[in-house]
Amino acid sequence: MSKKYAVIKGVQGALPDYVLTNKELETLVDTNDEWITTRTGIKERRILKDKDKAASDLAANAVEKLLEKTGTNKDDIELVIVATVTADMVFPDTANITCDKAGLNNAFGFDINAACSGFLFALTTGAQYIETGRLKKVIVVGVDVMSTIIDYTDRATCVIFGDGCGAVLLEASEDSGVIDSVFRGDGSGRHYLHMKAGGSLKPASKETVENREHYVYQEGRTVFKHAVKGMSTTVQEVMDRNNLTADDIDWVVPHQANMRIISSVADMLRFPMEKVMQNIAHYGNTTAGTLPLCLWDYESKLKKGDKIILTAFGGGFTWGATYLIWGYDG
Ligand code: COA
Repeated sequence: MSKKYAVIKGVQGALPDYVLTNKELETLVDTNDEWITTRTGIKERRILKDKDKAASDLAANAVEKLLEKTGTNKDDIELVIVATVTADMVFPDTANITCDKAGLNNAFGFDINAACSGFLFALTTGAQYIETGRLKKVIVVGVDVMSTIIDYTDRATCVIFGDGCGAVLLEASEDSGVIDSVFRGDGSGRHYLHMKAGGSLKPASKETVENREHYVYQEGRTVFKHAVKGMSTTVQEVMDRNNLTADDIDWVVPHQANMRIISSVADMLRFPMEKVMQNIAHYGNTTAGTLPLCLWDYESKLKKGDKIILTAFGGGFTWGATYLIWGYDG
């Protein structure tokens, strides 16, 4: 019997309407457009302003449009995996809430929390259900509403992050799909990027709120160095394992955290920037949303058989690279 792969059959993004520009950030913290542009490559990001909306609303919107554009019946979806660090609630999981809101009555769901590597890890998890023949149609979502955990008085973090969502539909294929992944983790990295309170270590209290401990804490320079090293080594590893050189690769899809990180990784691996997907200028770092949002933005340029490497680095630390072969003409 020939090997079964899990191939991406469609991709869809969902973004909030509100655009937070660098100019507006200048009115909130001591920063300026020139610093943000040269140090990060970000010009604007989207923010979910509706008070009654959450990650599941962006996810359900992306899922519904994805099903429509791929002509897929809601009842055929068997599993939805949502990668996020900004779940609607601590429990239940956002995937099940998404299924409810999108009307997917035959699907089960669960969340994966691996910060900015969440979508990458979820993609391989979803793919494995299809490779084993256990399931036929799986949706993998990467979504984050970072504005709910960002301190808009902290200039070191508030300029970087944004809100956004992307979703892909996975189905079985004989000749293309997710081929291989190299994933890594180092829990000691938690000291450099985390949210201090709101978990079992430090439950929410008057004191944690007063101390602004329900926001992202980041030591940017340390994270930067680990991100460049982590992404470039795992990309090289997955290429070596599959006998690929930079020339063989049609597209690189890097996590969109900082334009300088993206170009350093591209330089180290000798990928020309024309092959490197970039949309950080418009969305900033949407955490689990960056990779599927890149695929969505570049979908019309993608061709069946394109060799693509996705790579991410995030809180945990978590990081890795996935090699896949694209399944349709965009
Ligand atoms: N506007 C203006 N000045 C700022 C600023 C801002 N928004 N943020 C920091 N600065 C200042 C600092 O105070 C510092 O000033 P000083 O030299 O007078 O002390 C100077 O800019 C340099 O600060 P530094 O933190 O070294 O900047 P940096 O070049 O490392 O850029 C980040 C900061 C956060 C953009 C960068 O470190 C980064 O992108 N890190 C990785 C983030 C990441 O990938 N996170 C997610 C992982 S998934």
